[in-house]
Amino acid sequence: MKQQKSPAPDYSWFDHSRYGMFIHWGAYSVAARGEWARNRERIPADEYSRLYAENFHAENYNPASWAALAREAGMGYMVITTRHHDGFALWPTRTGDFHAGRIGPKRDLLKPFVEAARAAGLKVGFYYSPADWRHPDYPGPWFRDWPGVNDWQSNEARARMIAYYREQLVELMTGYGKIDYLWYDGCIPSDLASPEINAEMLRLQPGMLINERNGAPWHVRISEQAINPPKEWGIRWEACMTLNDNWGWHAGDMNWKSAREVVKMLCETAAGGGNLLLNVGPRPDGTIPEESARILREAGAWMRRNGAAIHGCGRSPFTWNNWGRVTVNGNLVYLHIRNSTGRELCWAELKNKVIAARWLADGAPVVFEQKGERLFLRDLPVPLPDPISSTIELVVEGTPEPLTCQTTFWIPGEPAS
Ligand code: GLC
Repeated sequence: MKQQKSPAPDYSWFDHSRYGMFIHWGAYSVAARGEWARNRERIPADEYSRLYAENFHAENYNPASWAALAREAGMGYMVITTRHHDGFALWPTRTGDFHAGRIGPKRDLLKPFVEAARAAGLKVGFYYSPADWRHPDYPGPWFRDWPGVNDWQSNEARARMIAYYREQLVELMTGYGKIDYLWYDGCIPSDLASPEINAEMLRLQPGMLINERNGAPWHVRISEQAINPPKEWGIRWEACMTLNDNWGWHAGDMNWKSAREVVKMLCETAAGGGNLLLNVGPRPDGTIPEESARILREAGAWMRRNGAAIHGCGRSPFTWNNWGRVTVNGNLVYLHIRNSTGRELCWAELKNKVIAARWLADGAPVVFEQKGERLFLRDLPVPLPDPISSTIELVVEGTPEPLTCQTTFWIPGEPAS
């Protein structure tokens, strides 16, 4: 009998969306001091359970409104913390009793999440932390960084930890329909048998993406709180960023990024051919802080005008300049102008002939002239039409190429030869 070849996995949704919502939500949201509260404050397990898990009620939880916000923001997927380091599972896991089915909300929080995401046409990502501060076999609840390989109490302890996280993952991968993205977090000593576990999860969810944090096989490299495209071209990657300085809800953290900063991050990740996974930390009742929602909506309005210059963009060979960022898609080149250069802008990086130039938001033509190596855009309005970032679309002949490749900085790196 001939062996059936399974079709090549299709990751185009990830490359197209370029923008997703990260959601940190759990018992720690009750503490309102970020998701590391238990570890940082060395809170005993029973106290954590009594004060936080038991007071986590999710009483206004409406994942359809999260999904609607993600859509309005221009995002293509959502990734939720199914279980963070504190060990509190958002679903009724059979592996223990520290979960939302028994304590706090007393129901499965993941099922409605997945349904809401699907109904809104969003892809579903599950964040999962193999590290578990509560598990007796985890090397210890107070580690700040990765515990070392020698921090296991015994090989048996390690084996039990592997069996435990495998079982939880199997529940996640078999109980909720199609999962598009398994988003591992770290803080685990190697090795957690990741090659076997990841291969098994891929058998359960063929075509799913896995991030790099639990070893091979993986598909997505992560850049955390920084926008660093991999040095090598052709690697799928994602920058995960907070909207203030915390992942989990922190009532005292007011250090919000502006919509303008969000758009800047979007342009930078898209210019690097990567995705932006932008975080919200809902309050324990399930509502997203107004400030987060406002910023996402404002950036979302920009995305409605200029999303074509983000969605599906490949890695740009163009480097930095003094006015903004450049993204590319096929023979289209997008100039995202953040800093006005007055009535005229000169860009001297493009090798190709320009066929047309227009404002992306309304299609109005832009006067341009190519003089040798320099492209001049003329009669630009002052101030720029969009205070967040004004995008000009260039139609060029052939595949966009730079006059010279920049090789000394990582921005945006060197095309692989
Ligand atoms: C950091 C934080 C962790 C968070 C993760 C997201 O590792 O310590 O709490 O979930 O970032 O990438």
